[in-house]
Amino acid sequence: MSALIRVEQLTKAYPTGGGAVPVLHGIDLSIAPGEFVAIMGPSGSGKSTFMNILGCLDVPSSGHYYLDGKDVSALPPDDLAAMRNRTIGFVFQGFNLLKRASALDNVALPLLYAGVGKAERRHRATELLQATGLGRHLHSLPSQMSGGQQQRVAIARALVNRPPLILADEPTGNLDSHTSHEIMDILTRLNREQGITIILVTHELDIAHYAKRLVRFVDGHIVEDGVPSR
Ligand SMILES: Nc1ncnc2c1ncn2[C@@H]1O[C@H](COP(=O)(O)OP(=O)(O)OP(=O)(O)O)[C@@H](O)[C@H]1O
Ligand SMILES: [Mg+2]
Repeated sequence: MSALIRVEQLTKAYPTGGGAVPVLHGIDLSIAPGEFVAIMGPSGSGKSTFMNILGCLDVPSSGHYYLDGKDVSALPPDDLAAMRNRTIGFVFQGFNLLKRASALDNVALPLLYAGVGKAERRHRATELLQATGLGRHLHSLPSQMSGGQQQRVAIARALVNRPPLILADEPTGNLDSHTSHEIMDILTRLNREQGITIILVTHELDIAHYAKRLVRFVDGHIVEDGVPSR
């Protein structure tokens, strides 16, 4: 069984005035296709640092990262970006939508970068917005939508390139409890019905319970890796 994600002895240190500060200390982790993994841990324990490396937004200081069997720790920036666009959809806490663009244009944007034609872009973005319950908001601006609706736009955008992997860093961090559970239901369905691998950072145990596996970080180490317990 080949892993979708495999990291070996991964470290990250950020350069500062007083020398490099280590944040991740030799992480080993393997994630198979179709898994749904929650990452928890105290603030500053390295979760976002780790997610940024998994998302090919940053590179490790040492160690290896194999994404879909390919060693991406040493790829040049252009190849890394291509790998990222093909393989990964991102969902962030702050939604990261373009303020002046409609829901439709926000979702279609990654397809523009991928060189997909206009008709196909509209078609796929519309389909995804309808699937996330936003069929009536195609032309709404982010400011005209609720937090939950904006996060659904962000999920639709993450899916538009049909990536096998979704990385979500505190996707419910800005949402009320009811809306958080709606967002988690969408992610659960994507995992169950389409086999999309999901890795999600959360501070809330009831959100982590949607996952089938819980990995806990403390001070840049993995201290627990198992099934979330009730
Ligand atoms: N770009 C950076 N330059 C220097 N230090 C950084 C940088 N990004 C993060 N850090 C430091 O690395 C450590 C881990 O940060 P990280 O953002 O990964 O934590 P986190 O687990 O995601 O925390 P939170 O739960 O608050 O989001 C922190 O001490 C932080 O100050
Ligand atoms: Mg973080």
